[in-house]
Amino acid sequence: SIAGHSCPLYARLLGRDCSGRTLQSADVVDTVAPWSTDTLQEVKGRMLQAMRKGLSRQTHAQANVRMLPTYICSTPDGTEKGDILVVELCQSHVRTLRVTLLGDGNQSPQPGCWVMGSSWSPPTMPLQLFDFIAQCVRQFLAGISSPQHRLPLGFVNGTGFSCSDVEGKDVVQLLQLAINKQELHHVDVVALMNDTVGTMMTCSMRGEPCEVALIVGTGTNSCFMAEAQQVEMAEEISGKMCVNTEWGCFGDDGTLSDILTPYDQHVDQESSNPGEKRFEKLVGSLYLGEIVRHVLTALVAEKVLFTGSSVAILRTKDVLKTQQVLEIIDKEEGMAKARRALEALGLQPSEQDCCRVQQICRAVVSRAAALCAAGLAAILSHMCQSRELERLVVNVGVDGELYRGYTRFGEILQSVTGLLAPECTATLLPSVDGTGQGAAVVTAVALRLAAQRREVDQLLAPLRLSRADLERVQALMRREMELGLGLESHASASVRMLPTYVRGTPDGTERGEFLALDLGGTNFRVLVVRVAQDGIRMASEIYVIPTAVTQGTGEELFNHIIECIMDFQLKQNLMEQVLPLGFTFSFPCQQLGLDKAVLLSWTKGFSASGCVGQDVVQLLREAAQRKQHLGLKVVAVVNDTVGTMMSCGYDDPKCEIGLIVGTGTNACYMEEMRNVGTVEGEQGRMCINMEWGAFGDNGCLDDIFTDFDRLVDEKTINAGKQRFEKLISGMYLGEIVRHILLALVEKQLLFRGKPCPKLQTRDIFQTKFLSTIEIDGLALRQVRAILQDLELQASFEDSLLVQKVCQTVSLRAAQLCAAGLAAVVEKMRENRGSAQLAVTVGVDGTLYKMHPRFSQHLQQMLRDLAPNCTVTFLQSEDGSGKGAALVAAVACRRAEP
Ligand code: BG6
Ligand code: GLC
Repeated sequence: SIAGHSCPLYARLLGRDCSGRTLQSADVVDTVAPWSTDTLQEVKGRMLQAMRKGLSRQTHAQANVRMLPTYICSTPDGTEKGDILVVELCQSHVRTLRVTLLGDGNQSPQPGCWVMGSSWSPPTMPLQLFDFIAQCVRQFLAGISSPQHRLPLGFVNGTGFSCSDVEGKDVVQLLQLAINKQELHHVDVVALMNDTVGTMMTCSMRGEPCEVALIVGTGTNSCFMAEAQQVEMAEEISGKMCVNTEWGCFGDDGTLSDILTPYDQHVDQESSNPGEKRFEKLVGSLYLGEIVRHVLTALVAEKVLFTGSSVAILRTKDVLKTQQVLEIIDKEEGMAKARRALEALGLQPSEQDCCRVQQICRAVVSRAAALCAAGLAAILSHMCQSRELERLVVNVGVDGELYRGYTRFGEILQSVTGLLAPECTATLLPSVDGTGQGAAVVTAVALRLAAQRREVDQLLAPLRLSRADLERVQALMRREMELGLGLESHASASVRMLPTYVRGTPDGTERGEFLALDLGGTNFRVLVVRVAQDGIRMASEIYVIPTAVTQGTGEELFNHIIECIMDFQLKQNLMEQVLPLGFTFSFPCQQLGLDKAVLLSWTKGFSASGCVGQDVVQLLREAAQRKQHLGLKVVAVVNDTVGTMMSCGYDDPKCEIGLIVGTGTNACYMEEMRNVGTVEGEQGRMCINMEWGAFGDNGCLDDIFTDFDRLVDEKTINAGKQRFEKLISGMYLGEIVRHILLALVEKQLLFRGKPCPKLQTRDIFQTKFLSTIEIDGLALRQVRAILQDLELQASFEDSLLVQKVCQTVSLRAAQLCAAGLAAVVEKMRENRGSAQLAVTVGVDGTLYKMHPRFSQHLQQMLRDLAPNCTVTFLQSEDGSGKGAALVAAVACRRAEP
């Protein structure tokens, strides 16, 4: 057989000089035997490298495989509907098509009528080209469209002509201008896409989504749904995005030089673009006939073929068409077709000549299929790896005359792909309708997404605060602060500005051993704190307080607290000692002294009866008596903000503000005594517990509350109260998000509008989910998993939307918090009559600590709103119990004789 012939050129074409393991599948060995799996693996590896180069921002500019982002982020979901006009620019014609999408979910659009473009060749100058296309559109529409209806147009570029999707905007504009010139004012150019994208979408419409597409026609190219965060050029961090590989240019940097044969070099040199599209020239049907011709020419020169006939004709470019090559390789008719084709060229082939020509044609086509498979395998392996899957199961849409015209091509493509990417199962789906219908769907998706985006934006708009809004909040907070401090105005202020009787931050001379309680945050803690010269040592224990107790009677609550203290003392061997106790009690209290605090109201879901209006220290003492615990000596009650400020103040003397953003939110700061109208004395400073959570309870923030906020508020046990807190703190953000999601479902913008009973459940969407969902670069898959845990079946688009809602809600919270804090630091600066203030804020709270963006947004906005203050944030690591102990230490020292 000719395969054994010594002709070196022929041997090289067949890869005889590539040593290594040969392909396993007998079927494949048959056709591509000379291409070893190792060689193809090598090609696949290089393709993978080239793809990565194209994806990375750093190397994109030099990459041959350009991996262009298409900004198409979803596959059809069946709800697309309406009349769409598609214009497809092919190598030699323009094709127009009108598709009516029914939107009834069965994803079977009905094609309107087709107009195969004329036999005109499109002009090469881009501007003329657009005019030409617009003329085609006008001709096509002349009979079928009434200009009353707007007609969205999707433009498919199936040529190498570079109107890449990155520069896409311009192309859309240019085409729109050309269309307007034709007075087709009802036609809107909505989407621009590559033909591979159209193919992918066409194949997607039949049930299972299709996430890869290949075109092996005149040219070759591919696209696939990539993880968006890997498409660095698009700056999208989540979801998926379709990437147009433009793999035809693979090898333009010489990557393929060792596998190129001299025939390939000839074909390249004689082409209109030497040195370019090297991969396409091995695979695309535009070139296969030419490769065969060059092989034949070489064999003739070796006197192996057509001895005796005149072969000059073989020197003429393009005398052998790819169509003929495809006919020749046919099992049944092939030999006859070979003879006919050769005779038509004036050759007189012998039986053996025909047989050899057939083998050459097969080798060339098989090589094309195998190379294509290597490329496809690279895409599949890349997808599998980047999705962190052990196994990828995926549908691949395929189009193009080589694939359609020759079944062996598909068989080889399938089996070689399987060999080269064994971790992936790819099902090849032939695209029977071309790319037009898919393009219509992409256009419809683009329309739907744009409409959805508008609706979502409208829904979220009230939650987006402008800078002016925030300045107003800051000014209102400032006003409420003044009102709260004033003796006369105090009663009418929503911000209570409670004096704490704490007159200074720690100075390091505090000493002693104390018990501390920390009640009102996520955890109830009992601690023992030893303050010595060499620092502070603590031991603590967390105790659960069941909701039944926080919402039962006061007696039960305080009994429970005493039981916990006794348990702790027992465990710590502290039963015999009477240690002074500092009590962090994180609720609004009117303090009558350091150790006397009347509860003004419960917040954060507490509602134990019989406590409001009572001194909580007294309640604690009474409970101790009931439990016969005689060694309890409460010396100080502090709010958690105060405990936090003191605790951080021990490490940083500049810490004169305490901030909590956790279950609830609040702040305290050092105010000048002269400004505190509610306490006698003008000298020095006193820490003021602002209780800013209640800001707005007098209606001053009504215009920033949204319907969602009102819904959340109505369902709480303290409706109408703590309105500012309900916009910011961890106890409520999840609920705000849940209400927004419900509204989105109702508007059919989420979960395909399917009712979600689970979403009706109060508090299922906890704030900790918010924190996780917003983690930078979190794969949408993970967001989806979180939602799945909540029994919410989210698509990738749903997950993106949920993420957006979370971001909007938490951003608003952080910005409002910043506005409040800006009022505080600005007041402190003015108090001190200085142009600049440098101050530290001690912060605690799960939301602040756990949320990936909260602190960043807060600090950024604060810098913006209070530019004359340099504010440092110091996160409290030991909780506020330490601060309560420090306050107790000062109290004890003062009490000493
Ligand atoms: C810390 C403090 O844990 O933070 C508490 O020690 C405070 O006093 C709490 O109440 C606030 O955060 P969260 O998220 O627990 O409410
Ligand atoms: C609530 C309480 C307040 C506390 C804050 C943070 O707003 O009323 O006292 O400081 O939550 O825990």
